[in-house]
Amino acid sequence: MVPTPPPGAAGASPGASGRAGPAASARFGQYPPARRTIVHVSDTHLLAGNAPLGGRYDTEANLAETLSAVEALGIRPDAILFTGDLADLGEPDAYRRLRAAVEPVAERLGAPVIWVAGNHDERPALREGMLDLPPTQEPVTGVWDLGGLRLIALDTTVPGWHHGDLDEAQLQWLRDELSTPAPLGTLLALHHPPLPSHIPLFDILELRDQGRLAEAIAGTDVRGILAGHLHYSTSGTFAGVPVNVAAATCYTMNLARPGSSVNGMDAGQSFHLVHVYDDTITHSVVPVVDAPTGDYFSPAWVERMSRLTPEARLEEFSRKPPRTV
Ligand SMILES: [Fe+2]
Ligand SMILES: [Fe+2]
Repeated sequence: MVPTPPPGAAGASPGASGRAGPAASARFGQYPPARRTIVHVSDTHLLAGNAPLGGRYDTEANLAETLSAVEALGIRPDAILFTGDLADLGEPDAYRRLRAAVEPVAERLGAPVIWVAGNHDERPALREGMLDLPPTQEPVTGVWDLGGLRLIALDTTVPGWHHGDLDEAQLQWLRDELSTPAPLGTLLALHHPPLPSHIPLFDILELRDQGRLAEAIAGTDVRGILAGHLHYSTSGTFAGVPVNVAAATCYTMNLARPGSSVNGMDAGQSFHLVHVYDDTITHSVVPVVDAPTGDYFSPAWVERMSRLTPEARLEEFSRKPPRTV
């Protein structure tokens, strides 16, 4: 099962990816612009009728704030990725609401949406509600060609359980897909991250038997693994591959506590801006917050800098004035 992105959506922007406007295309440093840009969102946990999650969280309002923040970036991303727990209880109305919230934004940005299954999702309802596929228990997997960057969505969910696993059939499918390299390499997207957590509850709900995934990606062109599930942003490496976990739109874990007392809070929501360069990939955490922000830097400032020689730019912006102490 391979969901097909909209024609022409992937990699539609020539040259620098995710950029907008002449000022944004300025290059002042040693790195060429990112080849591809992905917006990585996770754990929306919507409920039918927008019932408050846990009696406390307005998941639809929080998602709307995140989507507004995504649009405010002023970019045309190559994809918008949601790494699972799309619905909290797998209800058809929750999936309807998610599509209604996300698809108009994706259309305006000209970006395909990639839906990954999480432990709170139900495969049949997700397949029918989000992908217009028959409502079966088949894993929700897919392959996208984002202008030469391959993104493979895996389904780490186990029907009837909250922990994660990958069965042999899915691992064999992954091995087959990876047997041919992609021009810009491959990203894996899945829900349960192959990383440890310092929070005890997540050890119970971890991705089990991770050694088999390590074997499947060994020696392949996999450049990164993008995940969710933890409701806090973190990163590490797995089998030598960088792993990045985006937090959540619904609520996040308050990490300012001892691990055994960590609980959810209606604050700290964020998403990741993933920039894929030739030799590296950066995952920038974008806070979804309404805070007073300066206005010193602007397109006009970038334009002015772009008119200077590299030496003059250093003088203008890097040179420190003489110190008196
Ligand atoms: Fe979640
Ligand atoms: Fe989860």
